[in-house]
Amino acid sequence: MWTEQARRALFRRRSAERPAAPDRSARGGVVPLLQAEAITKHFGNVLAVEDVTFRVGDGEIVAVVGPNGAGKSTLLKMIAGLERPTSGRVRLGGQLVHSRVPHQVRRQGISIVMQTPLTFTSMTVADNATLGAMFGLGDGVLPERKARQQAAESLALVGLERRAGDPVTSLNLHEQRFLELAKALAGQPRLLLLDEVMAGLNETEIAASVQIVRNVRDELGVTILWVEHVMSAVIELAERVIVLNFGKILAEGAPKAVMRDPEVIDAYLGKAQIA
Ligand SMILES: Nc1ncnc2c1ncn2[C@@H]1O[C@H](COP(=O)(O)OP(=O)(O)O)[C@@H](O)[C@H]1O
Ligand SMILES: [Mg+2]
Repeated sequence: MWTEQARRALFRRRSAERPAAPDRSARGGVVPLLQAEAITKHFGNVLAVEDVTFRVGDGEIVAVVGPNGAGKSTLLKMIAGLERPTSGRVRLGGQLVHSRVPHQVRRQGISIVMQTPLTFTSMTVADNATLGAMFGLGDGVLPERKARQQAAESLALVGLERRAGDPVTSLNLHEQRFLELAKALAGQPRLLLLDEVMAGLNETEIAASVQIVRNVRDELGVTILWVEHVMSAVIELAERVIVLNFGKILAEGAPKAVMRDPEVIDAYLGKAQIA
């Protein structure tokens, strides 16, 4: 799925372009990549997210878990600029992220893979990924030739290189999810937001997804904030877990410690579908 040649090419190029990899011991340390500062979101009378503050260090994988309706998707959408916080701020590398303008947020280096794919169904797999590359990190729209190259690399990364010329409609559920991921990665994000990308996948597909997410962080140095219900995958991959409940942070910490917390078991894990 991850062709060695593509992986090496991408890793070489990214290593040359990026500053030195952060010291892993500094994760979540003095200069976090992402800062969410007292974010609150009202939808009319519904308080979806309430006064949420947390940090994600450069190179970390942080999972966000919690029951349905806890505010997880709303939180990710605010970070991605798809929803504007009622109050509070988001910073990336210390710079304010201007919510409500998703393409600007992408240019600042934040990509999101949402629960519902936003593919252009009349286009091929490669064309979809190319659009993701064109409107990614940096100023202006990337020229098509470079965008196609980045798209091809991202498709190789998720194991879809052989499907590049196929129509999107020929992809099954997990391939559609992987295409969404390729589109997001083609924009060369510094921070990748994932919303339940493993939902509905079988065990083999979950294992493949876990490996891809791990490679994205380990090989490309992309920081990941990841909403997920598949607890086995969370325990395997995440260095930290944030538990949201009724829009607030209920607990935060190492996955196994958080999952032993009686309050978390009561609010969420008792009802969670443990895959
Ligand atoms: N666009 C919206 N308009 C009104 N209410 C919304 C909207 N989006 C989410 N909500 C509400 O906000 C709360 C949190 O939703 P959501 O962030 O989707 O939770 P989760 O992803 O944890 O299941 C829910 O009560 C939901 O109904
Ligand atoms: Mg959701």
